[in-house]
Amino acid sequence: MDTAFSLAAAALQDRGISGPLDCAIVLGTGLGRIADEVENPVFVPYSEIPGFPPGGVSGHARQLCHGTLHGRRTLIFQGRAHYYEGGDAGVMRVPIGLLTALGSPPLILTNAAGSLVPEMKPGTLALISDHINLNGPNPLVGEEGDARFVPMVDAYDPILRARLKTAATRCGAVMGEGVYMWFSGPSFETPAEIRMARLLGADLVGMSTVPEVILARRYGLRVAALSVITNMGAGLHGGAPHHAETRDVAGLATSVLRHVLRGFLSELHADG
Ligand code: HPA
Repeated sequence: MDTAFSLAAAALQDRGISGPLDCAIVLGTGLGRIADEVENPVFVPYSEIPGFPPGGVSGHARQLCHGTLHGRRTLIFQGRAHYYEGGDAGVMRVPIGLLTALGSPPLILTNAAGSLVPEMKPGTLALISDHINLNGPNPLVGEEGDARFVPMVDAYDPILRARLKTAATRCGAVMGEGVYMWFSGPSFETPAEIRMARLLGADLVGMSTVPEVILARRYGLRVAALSVITNMGAGLHGGAPHHAETRDVAGLATSVLRHVLRGFLSELHADG
């Protein structure tokens, strides 16, 4: 195993956190309160884990929370690092790769996203079915060996997606589904870029997740991603996104995400 992952795993072991885990969840902007329901939580600031990203963005706590969530041993990443913070698409390599030292649990990524389709409205959820990365950066650039040539068909695991859809239906949550296009940020898109994204087949836009999915697949993890739609894309009807709106609308949608995750985790079988 990669030494960086072993070092991070050792730091967690020192705090009583070890595998195998049932599930890992990355919480995006404004969604950190999902961790409030964790039983017997152990918190570890990212700054205390070797290889984890320092710094922060408002709306992101940047700590790990380990404990039991709806009966499952879960590791929650309260906040992520983004490409736009330092220009490193691999900034989440150790947090994601560490999971291979903890039993390679299924990984659920969450984020705040802009919608490009009128049917997917702010305040609702959207399951990511696939992505478009026209940014250029890729977290595997510079890696050697054949493992870097990662297949990306069904990168967003069909079984996890089906289970998330079932969980949403059962709790009455509105959840669309679509293709997510990664923009580097930190500036929001222009209306012209949003029109381009739509023409190219995107339904959602955002500044995260895509490098994490690539890393997850590189390390053999099954991954799914859920967006909380916080706004319409720039220039669309009602679309003039800004960070405070993103953070606040995501916070308001926390309870619906909480219900979906509860249903998903309760039904999670030992095989993931
Ligand atoms: N664009 C990019 N990232 C985002 C958006 C958006 O409209 N909304 C939330 N995150």
